[in-house]
Amino acid sequence: MPKLQAPRGTRDQLPTERAVFLRLEDTARDLAMRYGFQPIETPMFEGSAVYERGVGKATDVVEKELFRVQAGRGESERERWALRPEPTAGIVRAFVQHGMRTWPQPVKLTLTGPMFRYDRPQAGRYRQFWQFDVEVIGDPGPAIDAETIELAMAFFGAVGLTDVRVLVNSIGDAACRPAYIEALAAHFRAHQDELPEPEQARLEISPLRLLDSKDQRMQPLIAAAPTITEHLCDDCQAHFDGLLAHLEGVSIEPRLEPTLVRGLDYYTRTAFEFYRPGAEGQQQALGGGGRYDGLVELLGGQPTPGIGFGIGLDRVALALAEQDAAPAAEPWKPTVVVVGADPDDTVVRLQLATELRGAGLACRPDLSARRLGKQLDGAARLGAHFAVICGDELGAGNVQVKDLMAGTQRQVDVTDLARDLARAHAQHRHGEDG
Ligand code: HAM
Repeated sequence: MPKLQAPRGTRDQLPTERAVFLRLEDTARDLAMRYGFQPIETPMFEGSAVYERGVGKATDVVEKELFRVQAGRGESERERWALRPEPTAGIVRAFVQHGMRTWPQPVKLTLTGPMFRYDRPQAGRYRQFWQFDVEVIGDPGPAIDAETIELAMAFFGAVGLTDVRVLVNSIGDAACRPAYIEALAAHFRAHQDELPEPEQARLEISPLRLLDSKDQRMQPLIAAAPTITEHLCDDCQAHFDGLLAHLEGVSIEPRLEPTLVRGLDYYTRTAFEFYRPGAEGQQQALGGGGRYDGLVELLGGQPTPGIGFGIGLDRVALALAEQDAAPAAEPWKPTVVVVGADPDDTVVRLQLATELRGAGLACRPDLSARRLGKQLDGAARLGAHFAVICGDELGAGNVQVKDLMAGTQRQVDVTDLARDLARAHAQHRHGEDG
């Protein structure tokens, strides 16, 4: 039988790695709530149109990387869905569907969860990966743009990545982008023969996407291309200047990056990405985001501005491991293991464990029929502090309590057990902290 393995580009988060992720997710949630965000969850799959319309048909994310799902028996029942490659389109779909424009504005929502892209797997690039996402819908900025970027920087700082830089750009709006795209298309058309095959086709659909090309042959052409910064209209320029002034106000020094266009079609004006020093060229952003003032309307709502970011938690965890700053993951340890000499006393072991857990202690009964010595070895291997031994004294209402750390043993009245152990454990922890 062929070996069964997790699909390529996915991985199991075993308890040690899962503990790091849980810590990152907790930090993300606590921080976002302190900034006034409310948690939201959307389905892991949506009608494909949400992504085709929202993210854009000519983007890598939709064109090449969408996990499409088909279900239903007959042709008429068959629906076209896709696993969510990113959360923004789904959250905006929910904003429109639930009429959130009547809520107090702006609506600030946060989501942390798995995303799916059929990417070429490599370090930091997976087919299932986790994002910490925030969205602010209903504020035209630019002050909120700076606050959003500041939140991302606060997250990196809080988890222990202190050297993250933010790259920012303005990619214009419906007033100035068309003329820029014309200029860009003219530039690439003048070099049509040098364009690799897929870029030739894209030139006709979305010339902006060419700036995002990872193909090495494209890099000199991209470097020589006209920049949007030279083509911004007055409103976009004022918005960009406002963003920079507010970033300065919160002591963030961005790097201006005129070729930063982001890989998704919904962006307008502010665009940004987060990198560690030296990683800028490797297409391995820790996170990215920007303003999407046309997206709500594109998905069927009233014109409403929005901005947000997504941070890749897998890449954050990798970066922490690289700089040896992964939050120390304590393996789970029970405080108490309940063991018994008599193979038939499992009811009592279960009762005692239930009672101890009711008193707030982490407790795991050994329900096996193995010898008492083996059960005690097992408790020590788990790193338990105490073993409660059910033996002959049970008849008189007593158990033996073995302190596995101190190597001492004493008899305790069963009616007193939970209080006794809770006190002993608290005293021990107090000693550790002191
Ligand atoms: P994105 O730049 O496509 O933006 O993804 C955000 C982050 O997710 C990336 O910077 C990266 O850290 C991580 N990421 C993306 N693809 C992968 C992958 N295959 N493996 C591991 N990590 C990955 C968005 O998704 C937008 N929705 C962000 C946004 C929110 N814009 C406005 N609001």
